[in-house]
Amino acid sequence: MNNLLLYLFLIIAGGFSFLFSPTGTDNKVNQQECNDCHSDLMAGEYLHPVAVNGCSLCHASTGEEHPGTDESEFKLVADYPQICYKCHDDKNSKEHVHYPVQDGYCASCHSPHSSSNKSLIHSNFSENMCTDCHYLEIEDKVSDHYPAKNGDCQDCHDPHQSDYRGVIKMEPNKLCLDCHSRAIETDNRYIPNIKATLSENNTIHDPIESGECTICHLPHAADYPRLLIGEYPTKQYTEAKVDNFEFCFLCHDSEMITADSTVYATNFRNGTQNLHYLHINGTKGRNCNLCHNAHGAPNKYIIEATVKYGNWDMPVEADFTENGGSCATGCHKKLEYSRVTE
Ligand code: HEC
Ligand code: HEC
Ligand code: HEC
Ligand code: HEC
Ligand code: HEC
Ligand code: HEC
Ligand code: HEC
Ligand code: HEC
Ligand code: HEC
Ligand code: HEC
Repeated sequence: MNNLLLYLFLIIAGGFSFLFSPTGTDNKVNQQECNDCHSDLMAGEYLHPVAVNGCSLCHASTGEEHPGTDESEFKLVADYPQICYKCHDDKNSKEHVHYPVQDGYCASCHSPHSSSNKSLIHSNFSENMCTDCHYLEIEDKVSDHYPAKNGDCQDCHDPHQSDYRGVIKMEPNKLCLDCHSRAIETDNRYIPNIKATLSENNTIHDPIESGECTICHLPHAADYPRLLIGEYPTKQYTEAKVDNFEFCFLCHDSEMITADSTVYATNFRNGTQNLHYLHINGTKGRNCNLCHNAHGAPNKYIIEATVKYGNWDMPVEADFTENGGSCATGCHKKLEYSRVTE
């Protein structure tokens, strides 16, 4: 970095090509000549400032007459990537290095001279260079993620390297919560502040507490709603088929909505009467989110204190005992259940 500042200073101070002239000749004259014939290299809108007056910083004359018959009149002062690391921090030493950067051949993306793209990205790339090499299936998916669909790949990925899998810019959950630390209003929906949900509640759903958001969500697009890895209803009522709740049953026992009586499929029961089944059966099965929050909630068993019922913030007053519990909601007055069968 210090070198970079030095060169910047020298650019501003001008006259530095003399200082760096490898042969000590009056490079200013040579520079003028270089530009006479090679002006196309510096024709891009974005210039590598060191190239403007500093051909000799990277190209050393071998002393032969130029232009000549072979290509031996100049040699690069160092190989890739060292020629760039003279002034820039290294780009390929972290644990996860983006494949095209691994061999240090920076020219697969950058031009050392000038470009019509910012960040000296080669002029033959389009504006979002990532999608020139990567095709992400987003268009025909059931749900998609705005920043990925919009081509903002670098909101999440570093183009060079990272300490984290998938060359993402920060720790996985931190990355997601970087944006989901505020509520987001889209055209048709209100997405709550997930970071607040997690920090303000006592019970956090285990896969978040011990794992990553991407255990359940895909980062770009998905075949299911909410970027989930399995089917899950978005409405408050849906037919009580296992398939409709496939997502939860990737990890939990689906018998909780198929058996009207059980002693093992769930603890939400009155004696052997399955209260999950009671709430989720027939064509008007309730969504799990009428009681649970998939991320975190104030009560045990990630039971919410208020849930959205239409536009109403419906209270859920839940209480738990060793062998059961009670619940008073907008749906019904306080009702108790006990697993003890006597
Ligand atoms: C009179 C026109 C002319 C001038 C002046 C000129 N070049 Fe060139 N340059 C060419 C031509 C033609 C080629 C392609 C043929 C060749 O390689 O010699 C070329 C090729 C090159 C190459 C690639 C081939 C190699 O030898 O590595 C480099 C690098 C280069 N020039 C740098 C420079 C620099 C630096 C200057 C100023 C010191 C300069 N040129 C001045 C015409 C010119
Ligand atoms: C920061 C280092 C750097 C500076 C400064 C620089 N070049 Fe280059 N130049 C390179 C590298 C590296 C290559 C080889 C490119 C590649 O591998 O594709 C190159 C290639 C070239 C070529 C070969 C043709 C091409 O497009 O690849 C020419 C000609 C050339 N440079 C001329 C110049 C001239 C003239 C200047 C000054 C105006 C200059 N360079 C300044 C690094 C530099
Ligand atoms: C002699 C010092 C020097 C060398 C060698 C050098 N650079 Fe630079 N580079 C600079 C300076 C100075 C800047 C301008 C400061 C900045 O934008 O951070 C810069 C800026 C850049 C930028 C950012 C441009 C922007 O608009 O953000 C890229 C990309 C870059 N250099 C790539 C390279 C690559 C690739 C190489 C190797 C071929 C290289 N540099 C070699 C000094 C150098
Ligand atoms: C896969 C394409 C790709 C390759 C290969 C690549 N870069 Fe970059 N580089 C980028 C992109 C994209 C940006 C713009 C990043 C931004 O806007 O923050 C960038 C930005 C930069 C910058 C300016 C910002 C910064 O991070 O300092 C420098 C310097 C740079 N690259 C140097 C290099 C060097 C040196 C190499 C070779 C070791 C290299 N790059 C290889 C894509 C690439
Ligand atoms: C020059 C072609 C090229 C460009 C441009 C390019 N990539 Fe890649 N990228 C590759 C290749 C090749 C791989 C390795 C094969 C693969 O995983 O698809 C890769 C791998 C990846 C991976 C997987 C890394 C891992 O460790 O799992 C990510 C993420 C990625 N690229 C993101 C990006 C982003 C973001 C950009 C734009 C800044 C970008 N790529 C630009 C060629 C490219
Ligand atoms: C919201 C953050 C985010 C955005 C925006 C994003 N990605 Fe990703 N991407 C990720 C995460 C997280 C992974 C998975 C990393 C892991 O766990 O291995 C990933 C994985 C990848 C992979 C590895 C293979 C795969 O397909 O899963 C590629 C390639 C990739 N992304 C490219 C891109 C490109 C290109 C864009 C822009 C069009 C983009 N990403 C936008 C977060 C994002
Ligand atoms: C750069 C900001 C940004 C980052 C980083 C980000 N998101 Fe998002 N996310 C958004 C925005 C904006 C929306 C709302 C727009 C939309 O509908 O996609 C959204 C929506 C969502 C949705 C709802 C999608 C739907 O179809 O209803 C989920 C789920 C989601 N993000 C999960 C994640 C996960 C998991 C991560 C980490 C891998 C993450 N987000 C990282 C900006 C971000
Ligand atoms: C155990 C699986 C799981 C994990 C892990 C998980 N989520 Fe979710 N997420 C869900 C489910 C299920 C939904 C749909 C909730 C609903 O509709 O009630 C969802 C919805 C979302 C939404 C959209 C909210 C809305 O109301 O539309 C966002 C944003 C989101 N998750 C972000 C995250 C972030 C950020 C993380 C990591 C901190 C994360 N999720 C971890 C299961 C999970
Ligand atoms: C990726 C696996 C996974 C998915 C998908 C998943 N869970 Fe979980 N869930 C767990 C794990 C692991 C635990 C903690 C161990 C346990 O109690 O089974 C847990 C705990 C729970 C608990 C609390 C149990 C307790 O004893 O505190 C509830 C309630 C719950 N999950 C509901 C859901 C709902 C509703 C869905 C679907 C929206 C869902 N889970 C999706 C893995 C998952
Ligand atoms: C009417 C409210 C309600 C609905 C709807 C609901 N649950 Fe529950 N769930 C509970 C209660 C209350 C408990 C705590 C039972 C106990 O331990 O006393 C519970 C506990 C759980 C547990 C912990 C293990 C167990 O079964 O005791 C899981 C897992 C679970 N629910 C998943 C789901 C899934 C998946 C859905 C949607 C298919 C769902 N729940 C729908 C109220 C509900």
